[in-house]
Amino acid sequence: MGTIAIDGPAGAGKSTIARILAKKLGYKYIDSGAIYRAITLLAIEQGVEAEDEIGLNRIANNIKIEFSPPDQNGINRVILNKVDVTDKLRGGIIDKNVSRIARVKGVRDALLIIQRRLAEDNNIVMDGRDIGSRVLPDAELKLYITASIEERAQRRFTELKEKDIDVDYEDIKSEIYKRDKLDKERKISPLVKAEDAFLLDTTDMSINEVLAKIIEIKKKVE
Ligand code: C5P
Repeated sequence: MGTIAIDGPAGAGKSTIARILAKKLGYKYIDSGAIYRAITLLAIEQGVEAEDEIGLNRIANNIKIEFSPPDQNGINRVILNKVDVTDKLRGGIIDKNVSRIARVKGVRDALLIIQRRLAEDNNIVMDGRDIGSRVLPDAELKLYITASIEERAQRRFTELKEKDIDVDYEDIKSEIYKRDKLDKERKISPLVKAEDAFLLDTTDMSINEVLAKIIEIKKKVE
């Protein structure tokens, strides 16, 4: 089975690239960040704090998560405990809290099993922070996609503005900085480029250029 692991910091365009790549190759796309976000959503709804490891472990060990095939907009809907929560996972409150929850050992242990199970029996593209280094160490192709923080903040700013959401560029930049710092500095499975991952700095690249580069790399490793 083919597996492609894509990691990198927040807002680097991983999920956009992963989704298009999966479609092009006929692979299934799995957004691992959405699973951490889903746990964060449940924790907020249930009033479980990021410091409450027992409460978080209970949530992580009991979630049932599924990804639908792409809908008419190419989006894989996220079904959490039978409820479609896709539209609730990308808000400020989730962004602010997710990395504090993602550093909890019990959460990561439970998600490791879920992510590996989702990858079984499928050709998949999975994106996240520790996919190449921890979740799928034997992936056929590993990519580490990044861009300067200014560029990543600008992309997120433009995306939200296009949706008529009122946001401040400096706030976005500082949010991304904080999240990256927590993800890089945590003890368990921090954000890191796997030794055998290809580094792609997309600061000055368009999506099509990034895709072309990935296809070129994939051909080389085949
Ligand atoms: O990819 P996305 O920005 O949706 O991820 C949200 C958060 O989930 C990350 O900032 C990180 O804290 C956590 N995450 C993780 N490991 C992964 C994927 C996401 O810790 N494999």
